Amino acid sequence: RLRVLSGIQPTADSFHLGNYLGALRQWVRLQDTHETFYCVVDLHAITVEQDPKVLLERTRRSAAQLLAIGVDPARSALFVQSHVPEHAQLSWVLECQTGFGEAGRMTQFKDKAAKQGSDHASVGLFTYPVLMAADILLYQTNAVPVGEDQRQHLELTRNLAQRFNSRFGKTFVMPEPFIVKDTAKIYDLQEPTAKMSKSAATGNGLIELLEDPKRSAKKIRSAVTDTGREVRFDREEKAGVSNLLTIYSALTERTVAELETAYEGKGYGDLKKDLAEVLVDWVTPLQESVQSYLDDVAELDRILAAGAHRAREVASATLASVYERIGFLPAG
Ligand code: TYM
Repeated sequence: RLRVLSGIQPTADSFHLGNYLGALRQWVRLQDTHETFYCVVDLHAITVEQDPKVLLERTRRSAAQLLAIGVDPARSALFVQSHVPEHAQLSWVLECQTGFGEAGRMTQFKDKAAKQGSDHASVGLFTYPVLMAADILLYQTNAVPVGEDQRQHLELTRNLAQRFNSRFGKTFVMPEPFIVKDTAKIYDLQEPTAKMSKSAATGNGLIELLEDPKRSAKKIRSAVTDTGREVRFDREEKAGVSNLLTIYSALTERTVAELETAYEGKGYGDLKKDLAEVLVDWVTPLQESVQSYLDDVAELDRILAAGAHRAREVASATLASVYERIGFLPAG
C-alpha cells in the first residue's frame, strides 16, 4: 500500500474548520486506501514561544480531536512528533543539504518573521520547513494531505529528496502533495479573501471545532457576503457566498451546483441559517467525543505510545540508511 504522512501543530485549544476541511477530512478518508502516519507536531510548535503547561495540554487535545474526527488508531499510526527522535535527527542532516537562500524564500517564514521582527524570530522558525521535510521523508511517503498553504513546503521537500538521492544514491521516495482543490483554502468568514487562520485580527471569521456551537452558528449568520442576493458560486464577485457554499457542500456531500439550485429564489439569510444548523449538528456530537477521549488520558497516552512505536519502526530504518550513505561511522 502507498504511504501517507501528515502533521498538525498543537498551537491552539481547538482545530478550526479550515484545518478540518483542508486537511483532516482527507486524513480520515485516506485510511481506507493507504498506510497512514499522522503526527501532532510539537517540535514545530516551539518555533514560536509556547507556555509549557499549555503545550502539553494542547498536544493531548489535538490527539483527542484527531481521534474524534475519525483517525482510527487500529489503521493509522497516530503519534506525537517528539516521541520519535528520528524527526529531529533527519532534520539536521537535511538542514545541511538546504541552501540558506532557499530556506529564506519560504513565504510562511517570511510572513511570520516579518510579524515578529528578525531579532525575535527564532532560527527554528527558519528551519521549520526542513523539519517538515524530515517528517515526510522519514516514512518514504507517497502522498501528503495538506491545505494549499503547505504547497511551497512540499516543493522544498521534493527538492531535498531529489538532491539527497542524486548525491548519495536513491534513499527517499518522492512525495506528492495531496491537495483537494475545492477545499484547499477555506476563507475567513469576515474577510473572505484571506485564509481562515487562528492569527486573524478577530476570532469572528474563524470557526473553532471546540468552541460553543452557538457561537459558531452566530459567526456563520454574521458572515460577510455582498450586496447582491443571488446564491451563486463566484469567487471573484461573491467571495463570501462562495466560501459558505464550499463549506456547506463539504459538510453535507451535496454539490455546489445542487445547493445553488436549492437556494434559487431564496436569500443569503436562508443559506446562512441552514449552514449554521448543519454545522451545529455535526460539531455537537464531535465535541462530546473529544471530551470522552480527554476523560481517559491514560488510554489516550497508550494510543500515542503505540503509534510512536509503529512510527519508529519505519523512521529508524530510514534514518539508518541515511546515516550510512552520509558516511557516519556506525555506532558499535
Ligand atoms: P497547520 O498545523 O498550520 O495546519 C494543519 C493543516 O490544516 C491546513 N489548513 C488549511 N486548509 C484549508 N484552509 C485553511 N484556511 C487552512 N488552514 C490550515 C494546513 O494546510 C495543514 O494541512 N507545517 C504544517 C504542519 C506539518 C506538516 C508536516 C504537514 C508539520 N510537518 C508534514 C504535512 C506533513 C502546518 O503548520 O500545518
